[in-house]
Amino acid sequence: MTYVSNDVFTGQPVSLVLGQPLLRDDLVISSERVQDVAARERLLDDAFGAARFQKTCERLREGRMAAAGLSLSAHVDGALAGTIRFWHVEAGDRPALLLGPVAVDERHRSLGIGRKLIVEGLFRAMQRGHKSVLLVGDAPYYNRFGFERSATRGLSLPGPVDEARFLGLELAPGSLAGARGMVRATGARMLHEAPADGTFLRAA
Ligand SMILES: CC(C)(COP(=O)(O)OP(=O)(O)OC[C@H]1O[C@@H](n2cnc3c(N)ncnc32)[C@H](O)[C@@H]1OP(=O)(O)O)[C@@H](O)C(=O)NCCC(=O)NCCS
Repeated sequence: MTYVSNDVFTGQPVSLVLGQPLLRDDLVISSERVQDVAARERLLDDAFGAARFQKTCERLREGRMAAAGLSLSAHVDGALAGTIRFWHVEAGDRPALLLGPVAVDERHRSLGIGRKLIVEGLFRAMQRGHKSVLLVGDAPYYNRFGFERSATRGLSLPGPVDEARFLGLELAPGSLAGARGMVRATGARMLHEAPADGTFLRAA
């Protein structure tokens, strides 16, 4: 599979190229479009099931807008194959991002799409000046991107979580050093929930 990051939908300049030059219809990573929302929700239902709304991280996302410019879609041959979003939080006294959910359509897994969504998301987060990223996920997967348990040791989440899966990444060295306290949502509040047909959203 070949890959390029080119925001064909918004006309943003190419920001990162990984792998071989693209056959455009193969894989495209781009900013999420309103038209992607319904397919994204179906993909997340398939990947996580209805229990996804019970996750502790959902308490940091519900009713909030995702961080600007950091909702990405992966399309393969024009169909949504992967999704990633980031959210504003405060980690104790530090501004940070929460990564997730990230998911790839089962038919397209282990082809590097998850990696490319994460790398591109982190790259764009750095470009926007974000300094650290938190997530709850499997360390054996996220360690390869630099996420570590040690970065979140002084932090707590607003609900039950397997602590071994609570990981952090410093985009700016030292940005999580000594961070202590509760992680809480700081994203702009959504005035209306997004309906499944993709018509939405205004920030407060
Ligand atoms: C996790 C996920 C996004 C990875 O997407 P992907 O496009 O398949 O990932 P990549 O192709 O970049 O990487 C695949 C590699 O990661 C490994 N991997 C995938 N999920 C893993 C996990 N939970 N723990 C450890 N390794 C994992 C695969 O075994 C594969 O290894 P290989 O390269 O040695 O074959 C995808 O498997 C998925 O959507 N899973 C269901 C939803 C989910 O669990 N999301 C993450 C929640 S925190």
